[in-house]
Amino acid sequence: MPATSSSHFTPGSVALVGAGPGDADLLTLRAVKRLQQADVVLYDDLAGEDFMSFLKPDVELVAVGKRAGHPSPRQDEVSRLIVAHAGRGKRVVRLKAGDPAVFARSDEELRAARDAGIAIEIVPGVTTATAAAAAIGASLTKRGVARRVQLVTGHDVDGRLPGDLDIAALADPAATTCIYMGKATFPALVERLIAHGMSPQTPAAIVESLGSPETRVYRGTIAETAARLITNRPPGACMIIYGLALEEG
Ligand SMILES: C[S@@+](CC[C@H](N)C(=O)[O-])C[C@H]1O[C@@H](n2cnc3c(N)ncnc32)[C@H](O)[C@@H]1O
Repeated sequence: MPATSSSHFTPGSVALVGAGPGDADLLTLRAVKRLQQADVVLYDDLAGEDFMSFLKPDVELVAVGKRAGHPSPRQDEVSRLIVAHAGRGKRVVRLKAGDPAVFARSDEELRAARDAGIAIEIVPGVTTATAAAAAIGASLTKRGVARRVQLVTGHDVDGRLPGDLDIAALADPAATTCIYMGKATFPALVERLIAHGMSPQTPAAIVESLGSPETRVYRGTIAETAARLITNRPPGACMIIYGLALEEG
């Protein structure tokens, strides 16, 4: 089933839309168009609330993130809801924090829609790694210093540091590494990086709660950042970036 074209959002189809880091003015024009046209919006907590100003008054809003301590619906239930709403002839927006192609389980929703014969498109968004780089005023690449950027998840299905991480790649001084979902496991990762020969002085940053008034930035070395996450773990969602590209001056 082909994706819908950029100018059409037909009834009975789905758009996986990237909300970016949460600020309304970092939504793409296409994302805003889809939100204005949507009959049903299924959204994550991390998508923020700014997007709501673009919706039709009679839109059906479905929160599918963790709310007030309740567990989030299972992924297969979210996929089922998407298919069910589109099957009723609705224009369905599945709004995801950042970019739908980065750690967003979009593959499962794409497959569910395609298996049901429902047209589905992806509307990209600003992923947290690049939004965090903007927040700290840094470039993720740097000529002659950082020629590779790697986007990595800091936890496996059980919430632990994934056992099969490529430590040599993660300790590569010529790379900039952006860790999603890593605030609990970063100290364990740093131990392994240093054991592998990475300098403990490698610069790092934590950017917490991007796109909200509570945005906070911490900068230090990887060793200091790991120590801080042990003694003072931030409550909000965090992007952790490290690498020589972050060197100031
Ligand atoms: C399931 S992943 C979603 C990633 C998202 N699709 C993207 O492209 O940014 C969730 C992780 O993204 C990062 N994240 C998402 N929103 C964030 C925000 N507003 N501020 C800081 N980090 C955020 C955190 O590392 C969080 O644990």
